Amino acid sequence: MSKFFINGGKKLRGEVEIESAKNALLPILSACNLIDGKVVLHKVPAFSDVIAMLDVLKHLGAKVEWQDDSVTIDMTSPKRHDVPVELASKARASIYMLGPILARNKIAKVAYPGGCEIGLRPIDLHLSGMGALGAKVVEKNGYIYCNGANMKGGDVILNFPSVGATENIIMASVLTKGRTRIFNCAKEPEIVDLQNFLNACGAKVYNAGCGVIEIEGVDRLNGCEYQTISDRIITGTYMLACAMTGGEITLKNVDPSHNQALISKLLNSSCQIHIKNDIIKMKANGRAKAFGELETAVYPGFPTDLQAQAMALQCVSDGTSMIVENLFEARFKHIPELIKMGGDISFRDRVCVVRGKSKLYGADVFAHDLRGGASLVMAGLVAEGYTTISNIQLIDRGYFKLEHTLTALGADIKRIED
Ligand code: UD1
Repeated sequence: MSKFFINGGKKLRGEVEIESAKNALLPILSACNLIDGKVVLHKVPAFSDVIAMLDVLKHLGAKVEWQDDSVTIDMTSPKRHDVPVELASKARASIYMLGPILARNKIAKVAYPGGCEIGLRPIDLHLSGMGALGAKVVEKNGYIYCNGANMKGGDVILNFPSVGATENIIMASVLTKGRTRIFNCAKEPEIVDLQNFLNACGAKVYNAGCGVIEIEGVDRLNGCEYQTISDRIITGTYMLACAMTGGEITLKNVDPSHNQALISKLLNSSCQIHIKNDIIKMKANGRAKAFGELETAVYPGFPTDLQAQAMALQCVSDGTSMIVENLFEARFKHIPELIKMGGDISFRDRVCVVRGKSKLYGADVFAHDLRGGASLVMAGLVAEGYTTISNIQLIDRGYFKLEHTLTALGADIKRIED
């Protein structure tokens, strides 16, 4: 098991090229099930979640080849329609395989996805979506069995704009005859990216990101070459880390419009931010002012995936902040760890109050989930003394070689083997 070992106190300075978005790659990898041909994805970081999804694709019959950071996926001849529990348990996003396997094979058997580290994460909306398209859905012995022999396009009304359910239903309907409309769908940039990828393969998906998504089913999808959008959560993490360490950084290959909620908070907390095309230059002006109030919300609101990192910043900001986590009911597991480092935080249910202190102190802490783990790395970067973070394989799920990037920015961080 690896750990991060950080000697805190260095300001982050320098340039970072932001990589492709994990949350765009995972549904696009699932969508490869739909494609009768070769898909070439460029600039793919080997996040552990990406590797887990490629393993599922290989199991289903895909040929997968890496060349540098491009990966070719050939699902011309699907061989299976099941995702077994040992593969599903490695990536929660395996549930995104359900819609595309069903659409391509008219039958699917998928184990419940693993990991519930940030809440219950039900999949009822995914399943009712498949049902609304005419699939028969049976849940038995830890598996979801779907029969799509009578599937046809229809209206799906989500009672919450779930990202995963929206993506799964889009993928289930692209090869399903007729017109599907998804009401109250999620509007995240990763959904627009999925639409763009599918349309590059010959699908007819309209309106993602701006209203009721409409899909006109087609008979076949062909391969394409594609590069996903850049990762807005990694971008946000570095911006928050810059504010926290009093640094000055340049982020390249970003879409600044994807981080508007965060940028407006950082501008109000006295950071300087200059945006030009796909570049963000940022400079922290001394100690950041506390955000005051922060509530996570669906896009374009403040992302739940940056809540923990924003909390780490509030621990050393000037003033008090109240943070409300509206998306996931168990996404505060980083709080006891931040408290070990000297954070002054009290919380109940989904609300916490952070009183900013002038210092944090190094400690031995544990990453309970991906983004909470990133918040501990950030706390370690400013803490006085040494911080050791265990269970960092969860951080590797969404930050590729994080220690290399941080070292290039001047941090003193090492990966050590236990
Ligand atoms: C995706 C992101 C994750 C991000 C989240 C919210 C990926 C791979 N993951 O996760 O990083 O934190 O969006 O922006 O893109 N819900 C239900 N029933 C369902 C589905 C969801 O009740 O069938 C609830 C969930 O419990 C949660 C809320 O809806 O409270 C949001 O979940 P959802 O938008 O589905 O997130 P994910 O797709 O799992």
